[in-house]
Amino acid sequence: MRFALLPFTLLATVSSVVAQTQNTTFLEGLAATLSNAGLTSLVSLVGQANSSAVGQFLLATISSGKPYTLFAPNNDACQYRLPARINAPASVNESLTDTLGYHIVSGNFSTSHTTYPNVTLGRTFLNDTIYVQLEGSKDQVVAWAVRSDGKTHVLNQANDSTVVNTTTYGNLTIQIVDAVLTYPQNFASTVSMDNSSLTSLQSVLQGVSVSYYNASTSQTSDSTAYNIINSGFHGFTLFAPNSSALDAVQSSLAGLSSNQSLVETLLLNHMINGTSVYSPQLVGQNFTSAAGEALTFSINSTGQYVTSGNVTALIIQPDVLLSNGVVHIIDQVFLNTQSDTGAASSAAASATSAAGQSTTETQPIGFSQTASLNPSGSGSGSNSASTSKSAAAMRFSGPGGLQVLTIGIAIVGVLVGSLVILV
Ligand SMILES: *[C@@H]1O[C@H](CO)[C@@H](O)[C@H](O)[C@H]1NC(C)=O
Ligand SMILES: *[C@@H]1O[C@H](CO)[C@@H](O)[C@H](O)[C@H]1NC(C)=O
Ligand SMILES: *[C@@H]1O[C@H](CO)[C@@H](O)[C@H](O)[C@H]1NC(C)=O
Ligand SMILES: *[C@@H]1O[C@H](CO)[C@@H](O)[C@H](O)[C@H]1NC(C)=O
Ligand SMILES: *[C@@H]1O[C@H](CO)[C@@H](O)[C@H](O)[C@H]1NC(C)=O
Ligand SMILES: *[C@@H]1O[C@H](CO)[C@@H](O)[C@H](O)[C@H]1NC(C)=O
Ligand SMILES: *[C@@H]1O[C@H](CO)[C@@H](O)[C@H](O)[C@H]1NC(C)=O
Ligand SMILES: *[C@@H]1O[C@H](CO)[C@@H](O)[C@H](O)[C@H]1NC(C)=O
Ligand SMILES: *[C@@H]1O[C@H](CO)[C@@H](O)[C@H](O)[C@H]1NC(C)=O
Ligand SMILES: *[C@@H]1O[C@H](CO)[C@@H](O)[C@H](O)[C@H]1NC(C)=O
Ligand SMILES: *[C@@H]1O[C@H](CO)[C@@H](O)[C@H](O)[C@H]1NC(C)=O
Ligand SMILES: *[C@@H]1O[C@H](CO)[C@@H](O)[C@H](O)[C@H]1NC(C)=O
Repeated sequence: MRFALLPFTLLATVSSVVAQTQNTTFLEGLAATLSNAGLTSLVSLVGQANSSAVGQFLLATISSGKPYTLFAPNNDACQYRLPARINAPASVNESLTDTLGYHIVSGNFSTSHTTYPNVTLGRTFLNDTIYVQLEGSKDQVVAWAVRSDGKTHVLNQANDSTVVNTTTYGNLTIQIVDAVLTYPQNFASTVSMDNSSLTSLQSVLQGVSVSYYNASTSQTSDSTAYNIINSGFHGFTLFAPNSSALDAVQSSLAGLSSNQSLVETLLLNHMINGTSVYSPQLVGQNFTSAAGEALTFSINSTGQYVTSGNVTALIIQPDVLLSNGVVHIIDQVFLNTQSDTGAASSAAASATSAAGQSTTETQPIGFSQTASLNPSGSGSGSNSASTSKSAAAMRFSGPGGLQVLTIGIAIVGVLVGSLVILV
C-alpha cells in the first residue's frame, strides 16, 4: 500500500473546535513510527479523519507534546477484526472521528496494567452526544486489564481485543491492538451483544413500572425501569444481579410483585443515581443508593464485594460500560426494601454537583483510591526510536470532500465500508 503526499485542500471552514494547532513535525514522525510498526491502514484512516473539524482537533491534541495513550489497531484489525454491530452513522467522517476519539486516552498509562478482575480505566476523547450520555457531559471511558493469558485485553469489546505490541513516539504511548475498539452502547444492546447473564434482569426491569420525571417536557409519567435505564439516565451505576441470583430469589420477588413501590425501592437499592462509579473508585469508599440506603464496599483476596442491608454480593464482572453509565454484575439480589428519600436526594444532588466540575483526568480513573496498581504486566515494552529515514515519505494523507468516500473505499474498502454501517 502506498501513501502519496496528496495536496490537502482546505474545504471545511475553520471550526471553533480547532483550539490548538497541529504540530506537523510531530505528526509526520508519528506517521513514520506507525508505518514502521506496520500500521499503514491506521495512518490512512487518520489522514481521512483530518477532513473533519473533530478529526483536526484530535490530531492537534495528540501532537501537543502532552502524554497520551493511543490504542492503535493493526492492519489485520482494520481489515478483518471489525466490530460486528450495525448502526447507521451520521456520516463517514463522524463515525471515523468518533471511533478514533475512543482510541485516544489522556495520560501515560504504560505502568498501570492491573490483573483482571481489577480493571484500569482511562478517559477517552469520545464525547459525541449521539453515543455518550454520561453525567456532566463527560467523555466516555475505556477499560482494560491483563487476563490470565498474560495479555492486556481491552474490555467490553464485541471482538476480543488484545494489545499485541507497545511502542512510543514522543510522549505518546502506542498500544497496538488486534481489533478496532467499539465504544459502549445502551443497556439493551449491551445485554444482547455479550452479557447473557443479564437476560433475567432485563425481563425483571421490563416488568417494573417507575414514575419518571422528564426534564425536557417537565412531565412525570410512568415508564418501565428498562426504558429509563436505556435512555432516561445520564450517569448511573447499576449493581446488576446475574440470572442465577435472580432465579434464587424468585419466590421473594413474586411475593413483592403486588406492591410495585416496594419493587421499585428494591431496584433503586441496586443503583447509584447521577454518577458512573467504576470499580477502582469503589475501593475505600461507600456510596448511597438511589433509594437512600448505604452501599458499602470491601475487598479481600477472594474479590470485591458490595453490601446492602444484610446481603453481601461478590462483583463477578466489574465495569460493563454503557453509553450512559456503568454496570457491575453481582451474584446476589439485595432484598432491601428500606428507603430514605432525604438521603437519596442529597446523594443525587452531590453527584450532580460533582459531575458539573470540570476535571482533566490524566491518570487511571480512581487512581488515588487504589494505593498499589500492579506495575509492568504488559511485558512487551519496546523502544521509541522513530527512524527519520522514511519520515518524509510517511504522512497522514487526507483527501477531502467526496474523495473521502471514493478514495477511502478504493484504498481500504472493507474497513471504511464497514465503518459506515457499524458505528
Ligand atoms: C467534545 O470535546 C471537544 C474538545 O474538548 C469540545 O470542543 C466539544 O464541545 C465537546 N462536545 C460536547 C458535545 O461536549
Ligand atoms: C513539534 O514536535 C517536534 C517533534 O516532537 C518537537 O521537537 C517540537 O518541539 C514540536 N514543536 C512545537 C512547537 O511544539
Ligand atoms: C490536516 O488539515 C489541516 C488543514 O485543515 C492541515 O493544515 C494539516 O497539515 C493536516 N494535517 C495532516 C496530518 O494531514
Ligand atoms: C464530513 O466531511 C464533509 C466533507 O469533507 C464536511 O462537509 C462535513 O462537515 C464533515 N462532517 C463532520 C461531522 O465533520
Ligand atoms: C514530554 O512531556 C514532558 C513533560 O510533560 C515535556 O517536558 C517534554 O517536552 C515532552 N516531550 C515531547 C517530545 O513533547
Ligand atoms: C514489537 O515492536 C518492535 C519494534 O517496535 C519489534 O521489534 C517487534 O518485532 C514487535 N513484536 C511483535 C511481536 O510484533
Ligand atoms: C510513561 O511513564 C513511564 C513511567 O513513569 C516512563 O518510564 C515512560 O517513559 C513514559 N512513557 C512515555 C511515552 O512518556
Ligand atoms: C464504609 O462502611 C463500612 C460499614 O459501615 C464502614 O466500616 C467503613 O468505615 C466505611 N468506609 C468509609 C470509607 O466510609
Ligand atoms: C471476603 O469477604 C467476603 C464478604 O465479606 C467473605 O464472604 C469472604 O469469606 C472473604 N474471603 C476471605 C478469604 O476472607
Ligand atoms: C435480611 O433482611 C430481611 C429484611 O430486610 C429479612 O426478611 C431477612 O430475614 C434477613 N435475612 C437474614 C439472613 O438476616
Ligand atoms: C435521581 O436524582 C434526580 C435529582 O438529581 C431525581 O430527579 C431523580 O428522580 C432521581 N432518580 C431516581 C431513579 O432516583
Ligand atoms: C486489586 O487491587 C487492590 C488494590 O491494589 C488489591 O488489594 C487487590 O488484591 C487486587 N485484586 C486483584 C484481584 O487483583
